[in-house]
Amino acid sequence: MANLSTIYMGLELKTPLIVSSCDLTGNIESIKKCEEAGAGAVVLKSLFEEQIESETEELIDNVWMTGHTEAFEYVRGMSMSNGPSTYLDLITQAKKETSIPIIASLNCISPRWWIDYAKQLETSGADAIELNVSILPSNLERSSEEIESVYMDVVDSVLAQINLPVAVKIGPYFTSMARTVNELAGKGVRGLVLFNRFYQLDIDIKKIKLVEGNPLSSPNEIGNPLRWVALLSGRIKCDFAATTGIHTGKDVIKQILAGAKAVEICSTLYKNGLDYIKDMQKEIESWMSEHNYDSIEEFRGKLSKKEDEKTELYDRLQYIKALNK
Ligand SMILES: Cc1cc2nc3c(=O)[nH]c(=O)nc-3n(C[C@H](O)[C@H](O)[C@H](O)COP(=O)(O)O)c2cc1C
Repeated sequence: MANLSTIYMGLELKTPLIVSSCDLTGNIESIKKCEEAGAGAVVLKSLFEEQIESETEELIDNVWMTGHTEAFEYVRGMSMSNGPSTYLDLITQAKKETSIPIIASLNCISPRWWIDYAKQLETSGADAIELNVSILPSNLERSSEEIESVYMDVVDSVLAQINLPVAVKIGPYFTSMARTVNELAGKGVRGLVLFNRFYQLDIDIKKIKLVEGNPLSSPNEIGNPLRWVALLSGRIKCDFAATTGIHTGKDVIKQILAGAKAVEICSTLYKNGLDYIKDMQKEIESWMSEHNYDSIEEFRGKLSKKEDEKTELYDRLQYIKALNK
């Protein structure tokens, strides 16, 4: 039987299939089902920075929220039903009732709240922390340097407080992706999760208004994270986890060939149910036996770009060729 175990951020996972941060990992019953279905680990549903602010009664003072009564009430309601203290309880309970690694997830855009709270997450028993620093670079005044410094400040403040492995889940919008990711790794981040899928926007042309797009990804969204895992994982000393558009066992194999240590999946489980993890595992196992691989490490990173490969010109020629068929 093929060995699917992998080590991600120093955590031993029975399989590289992690259930990513979403509602499937937001309560203990569902977390237990993830484990039963064969998940290697779970990333808990994120706790949002605004929920911590709300519990400390300071949300109202936050400049970007001032005047947005609807947003304020929404976050306050969220906080009451699932606030920071409930989150700590969920970690403790999940550690007691399951044996897979439990990764806490914080969605943050400033470093100020994490100084105390990150420590509490560690005390509650979390095995690692994933920071989802989701900044959509849409501000006309903000330079790329300013935006990147937010990521660095958040990471610095959390790393200074805790000894747990820290992963950073980022989006795909950086002017210099490789340099930014390299700087994060240099600070001591143990895992890089590529890429967060931002809130999708759509337009209802009947009502002529902006509406929410499909919250679930489609399989053809795998291309961008696959490219970046392949481009960076062989050159940056950090573990990579891939997310977005991974819907089948074949997609997992691709990401591992590109160099991922693990994958974080969500949409495919919403569509096919948690037990689909078993089908994905079987697909990986049968491919491994077809190719005579006994373990994940035997083929991981086979197709990642290596440190000494200078392929810029080659990449550009491929691009020109693709457009001129
Ligand atoms: C309903 C739903 C809720 C989500 N909640 C979170 C969240 O709280 N924190 C987070 O980092 N990502 C969240 N995500 C993003 C997923 O963790 C994942 O990164 C993204 O959906 C891409 O993976 P996929 O293509 O397998 O869906 C959510 C996604 C969905 C569909």
